[in-house]
Amino acid sequence: MALTTESQARRLMARLDALAAFTDDPPRLTRLCLSQSHRRAAEQFIAWAKESGIAARIDPVGNVRARYEGRRPGAPALMIGSHIDTVRDAGRYDGALGALAALSLAEGLAAQGRRLDVALEIVAFGDEEGVRFPYTLTGSRGLAGVNEPEALAQKDAGGVTMRDALKAFGGDPDHLGAARADGVAAFVELHIEQGPVLEAEGRPLGIVSAINGATRLSAVVTGSAGHAGASPMDLRRDALAAAAEMVLAIEARARAEDELVATVGRLDVEPGAVNVIPGRARFTIDIRAPLDEPRRRAVADIAAAMQAIARRRGVRLDELTPTHEAAGYVCHPAIVAGLAAAVVAVGADPRLLPSGAGHDTMVMGQRWPAGMLFVRCKGGVSHNPAESISADDCAIALAALTRFAEDFRAA
Ligand code: GLV
Ligand code: MN
Ligand code: MN
Repeated sequence: MALTTESQARRLMARLDALAAFTDDPPRLTRLCLSQSHRRAAEQFIAWAKESGIAARIDPVGNVRARYEGRRPGAPALMIGSHIDTVRDAGRYDGALGALAALSLAEGLAAQGRRLDVALEIVAFGDEEGVRFPYTLTGSRGLAGVNEPEALAQKDAGGVTMRDALKAFGGDPDHLGAARADGVAAFVELHIEQGPVLEAEGRPLGIVSAINGATRLSAVVTGSAGHAGASPMDLRRDALAAAAEMVLAIEARARAEDELVATVGRLDVEPGAVNVIPGRARFTIDIRAPLDEPRRRAVADIAAAMQAIARRRGVRLDELTPTHEAAGYVCHPAIVAGLAAAVVAVGADPRLLPSGAGHDTMVMGQRWPAGMLFVRCKGGVSHNPAESISADDCAIALAALTRFAEDFRAA
């Protein structure tokens, strides 16, 4: 039975609601990479694909993969997808929309018994957020064949290595190379905008021009724990007070330059008691900019400012370790042009805009022509349970993605 775009979009929205039930932290949605809830979400994805006669599987690096063959078996593939891991207390659309939309697209073709010139490779990446393990994007890096071997040795906060988590998930850490994709002509990702521009301009869709590069670091400041009542203020070496000054220095550096953003998103204090001067503070730093050179300069300036604060306050900056590095990516002009044509074909304006958020596309683009379609989200809110899109926008996004795939020709 043929499906209309509207009925496909309704089913897609219902599946997005259903997928949000796979969480390790109910009632909040927290589906960290390679967790039990991630595994159950992957199984559900595979079950949905099977209902439409599409065989899906978990690949060695923890992605869910499926192929919808083209007219000619073994044809070059258009790869489409996004991620199904989430941040803590997440919204239900970041990532899941694009992963499930890729499946919807293939299902729509299957329901009509249609094949395209290209095969469709569907992917639900498993490691986009980098919340559980610091070195991230291992799913797309595995497909592109650019993972660092040390990735498997990294540990989560509970001491579990990525190798063990991947094994438990159903991946194959001893054969990561088998995840590498070949015969791919291009990669496209549908994603919510995660910002307010499209809504402010009254547009449902946007085409991504470029994606910000990112550097993440972990910092450890060591002072001296002591009695909160008995230690005079001028004789303290308070690790948290020093870290707080560093956080403000990071913020000031980012504020001083257009388009540079920096965030301290996690801070842990030891020993963590009301009457003990903090002896140690650990925190994360995330620095992003559209161009790589200004980002690298900012990283160096921030490191120097942190050292100076540590010296002045008599504490040690014991660690300032890069945990993630992703170069900015300018989306491929042929993909941008194809997406623009598809957006126009479904009756929307081809608005180009940059992405401040990171995406698997920036890795996929290292190996294949790649690009992204954005859909408007309510209030520009993301990484927040209030994340929301309308069913109408979902339908137009699906129609544009379908149109892009129909018109795509492998070079
Ligand atoms: C992913 O959402 C990121 O940009 O941090
Ligand atoms: Mn995302
Ligand atoms: Mn995200």
